Amino acid sequence: MCGIIGIAGQSAVADRLLESLRRLEYRGYDSAGIATLVDGRIERRRAEGKIDRLAARLAEEPLAGTTGIGHTRWATHGAPSEANAHPHATDRLALVHNGIIENHAALRKELIARGHRFSSETDTEVAAVLITDLLAGGASPKDAVAAALKRLEGAFALAIVFVGKPGLIIVARRGSPLALGFGQGETYIGSDAMALAPLSRRIAYLEEGDWAEVTPDGATIYDEAGRVVARPVRMAESTGALVGKGNYRHFMLKEIHEQPVVLGDTLKGCLALDMRLPRLPPLAFKPEEATRWTLIGCGTAHYASRVAKYWLEELAQVPVESELASEFRYRRAPLDPKGIALFVSQSGETADTLAALRHCKANGLHTIGVVNVPESSIAREVEVSLPTNAGPEIGVASTKAFTTQLAVMATLAIAIGLARRTIDEKRARALAEALIEVPARMTEVLARAAQFRTLAQTLAAARDVIYLGRGTCYPLALEGALKLKEVSYIHAEGYAAGELKHGPIALIDDVMPVVVLAPPDHLYEKTASNVEEVIARGAKVIFISDARGAAQFKDRALATVEMPDVDPFAAPFLYALPVQLLAYYTAVLRGTDVDQPRNLAKSVTVE
Ligand code: F6R
Repeated sequence: MCGIIGIAGQSAVADRLLESLRRLEYRGYDSAGIATLVDGRIERRRAEGKIDRLAARLAEEPLAGTTGIGHTRWATHGAPSEANAHPHATDRLALVHNGIIENHAALRKELIARGHRFSSETDTEVAAVLITDLLAGGASPKDAVAAALKRLEGAFALAIVFVGKPGLIIVARRGSPLALGFGQGETYIGSDAMALAPLSRRIAYLEEGDWAEVTPDGATIYDEAGRVVARPVRMAESTGALVGKGNYRHFMLKEIHEQPVVLGDTLKGCLALDMRLPRLPPLAFKPEEATRWTLIGCGTAHYASRVAKYWLEELAQVPVESELASEFRYRRAPLDPKGIALFVSQSGETADTLAALRHCKANGLHTIGVVNVPESSIAREVEVSLPTNAGPEIGVASTKAFTTQLAVMATLAIAIGLARRTIDEKRARALAEALIEVPARMTEVLARAAQFRTLAQTLAAARDVIYLGRGTCYPLALEGALKLKEVSYIHAEGYAAGELKHGPIALIDDVMPVVVLAPPDHLYEKTASNVEEVIARGAKVIFISDARGAAQFKDRALATVEMPDVDPFAAPFLYALPVQLLAYYTAVLRGTDVDQPRNLAKSVTVE
């Protein structure tokens, strides 16, 4: 993770670097720092914690300079302290880094043996000291970086400024994204186009292995072999305005409430609304001929793909695996070259998902992305990208990205079912109708959001919480537990309701809240029986179902929540709302940092 920004410019850069760091804060907020070149010397300010702390530091002691680099950190090696904050500086350079330098321990040992001293616990400082060592041996900045890159192992992006070299930033990309922006007499570098948005919309992405000399006049880009290369410059779509919270207290709440609208936008992109049928973009391959689908993602995106597994299996009658990217990429599973691998990611930059994508491509599989950030690495590297159109998701806990991922994959499942003739047009239309109704039904649930604030009092007082669901609501139970853990710091587990009796039921006692997601589908009676089992053991059940289900448990559950009637196919969309709202209000009651929970970052670009 971590965010990188840089300006090789002609006017003061500190304020602009700071503004861009705010846009990158989603990538980490353990510490932040800026270094600029002032009369050929390096000046830097760093602060532990969020960007506001760095802003306060800069207000106390402003930074001059027309060329500089900045960084916001998600700690990997070394605690989130000021000493470990980037930029790391030596007597010759300052450097910022995103990713991990895997051979840092060996290099550190070697550099210490050569007489160098270290002032942080980070892997990053090894790169700074290594390049310094090469400069001290007489190499130019360009040659020193080229030589150092050959010695650094891992996935990373780097940006470096050099003492006595005003106007020069050298950057390198290996595994972690890096974009260049071009302005009038200024050149910019950043981890993503959003950070560069207020500076420039003319963007070029460095490709894997690329590195570049950046000056106010432009950039000379080299490939891994050191050959000068050109990379296409395109107009970025991202808006220059920082996304605000509107009237909401937190981005998470705003994004939960945006779901009816963004879901409608997403459905417009993947359904021919007049025909009530799914619409896929033109493909260079026939997805209906795939013998197997492998759905790959991390965290919430993985849970979305676990819902989609049920849909694709049922509607398209095709074998589907839903895989955690971090496990899949190292498993050496036999890959079927006639299969399709589908990658689900909000950011499009998640390191494990990206690595899994490259692994599948190298093995000849067709690849599809379900991605929210259109300019992201995954969106650019898949054969076909199906956009989720959720708009910028700023809250670290994923909400609207989840339901829009579901929307894209639901329409995909209908499309593949139709193409494979495992469903007919009548059924496809009925399913599409059910999806088209979702935004309106979501609005009904959101209008009653206050009830979840009341229910959250029970969860906020608990030490542990269990979520139960069956069928497509089983991944929802997993997602509910993840949401609660990450924003409220309360331990929670999601289980398939039928699995409880195989062990976890031992956890149930009269203080354990159990949140049950029980839409009125073909599994309702089974879930209801499992609920009887936990009620019999004293659990405090929050039972979420339709009117009939709510009535059934009204007297015995701690609370029931009545959800609107929907086709069971559309239930995961609606049942996502209670789990999101329960997590949100519980976190608010616990007083956590809802939008930026501890230890997390929005974009996980380390493995
Ligand atoms: C949880 C959450 C994470 C992400 C995961 C994948 O609320 O946000 O679990 O879903 O890190 O991120 P993307 O979707 O960007 O690949």
